[in-house]
Amino acid sequence: METKFELTEQDYRYLFENASDAMWVHDMEGNLLDGNKAFEKLSGYTSKEWAGMNITQLLSDESLALAREVRCKLLNGEGLEQPYEQRFITKDGATRIVKMATSPVIINGEVRGFQHVARDITEEKQLQENMRFYVQQVTRAQEEERKRIARELHDGMSPSLLLLIQRLDAINPSTQPRLSTSLKNKLEDLRDQALEALEGLRHCAQDLRPPILDHLGLVAALEWMAENTAKDYGIDAKVEVVDVGRDLPDEVQLLLFRIAQEALTNIRRHAEAPRAWVTLEFGKDKTILTVKDNGKGFKLPQRMGDLASMGKLGLAGMQERAQLIKGNLTLQSELGKGTTVTVEVPI
Ligand SMILES: Nc1ncnc2c1ncn2[C@@H]1O[C@H](COP(=O)(O)OP(=O)(O)O)[C@@H](O)[C@H]1O
Ligand SMILES: [Mg+2]
Repeated sequence: METKFELTEQDYRYLFENASDAMWVHDMEGNLLDGNKAFEKLSGYTSKEWAGMNITQLLSDESLALAREVRCKLLNGEGLEQPYEQRFITKDGATRIVKMATSPVIINGEVRGFQHVARDITEEKQLQENMRFYVQQVTRAQEEERKRIARELHDGMSPSLLLLIQRLDAINPSTQPRLSTSLKNKLEDLRDQALEALEGLRHCAQDLRPPILDHLGLVAALEWMAENTAKDYGIDAKVEVVDVGRDLPDEVQLLLFRIAQEALTNIRRHAEAPRAWVTLEFGKDKTILTVKDNGKGFKLPQRMGDLASMGKLGLAGMQERAQLIKGNLTLQSELGKGTTVTVEVPI
């Protein structure tokens, strides 16, 4: 049988005091009236110390501006996204980042102060920052490595193959009239094979790091890639540029190119699409890249964050790259209709 009971004031006090989130209350002037243990831990001030303090003593100018905005919105009944992020300066001068929610304290229909609940996310944020930095460094290192391998293929291996072809050419029938027909045919075959290997090598080097991207920029590189997709895989791929304009920073060009490259590779490998469209749109405050196909489509994961853990590293990599340039990547896909990848990068 269930026993019903009422919590006493003391029970609530216990919950308040021992909650792991910081909680505090101040009046309309910002004078602190109450706070729990987690608030002491967050601020670094003991209850005796904060008792005579004003909340503004814990805020930088920037944080104060945000606090005023929150207060204003709450008093005017305007929508406020909660929890929101705020920064506090602790007793020892360090900055702590919190995720917090604020509500007015209303007594007899009148707003008399504000109460707050805040969770310290400083370490979490730091970890996120480190992760972002790490991904950025890994991506840069990967690009450097690709550049190095492309150069090696181009400057080291291509000339050797070219020389081999020239030497095979030198043993041609006019200089060696006494060679048997079968040997001549074999030499001809060898020459063709060497030529094919050279072509493959060039292809590989170009995919690793298309020189056209470094020399002529993103639009030219996208056009080059679409032409190759059409030529090599029979997919009718077209590039459209809307409002050509500004020059994008090299890193943005490179990462957008990589995203388009991965999207086109997916179309080629999975979509069974007859057509693909690449669009680059230079808007007023953002650049938008879309890669679209009219293939078979696929079922998207519930959340974009699940991509990596599901082993969809290509799609996850596209998302990581978009974030590195402060962009936002969205995926749309409908079974039987096709897939669209969109990246929006703010200026
Ligand atoms: N354009 C597309 N059309 C159809 N299916 C796609 C497309 N892009 C991605 N997919 C599906 O999403 C999966 C994950 O893609 P991705 O993360 O790039 O990994 P991978 O290409 O290595 O399989 C693919 O295996 C495929 O099933
Ligand atoms: Mg892929």
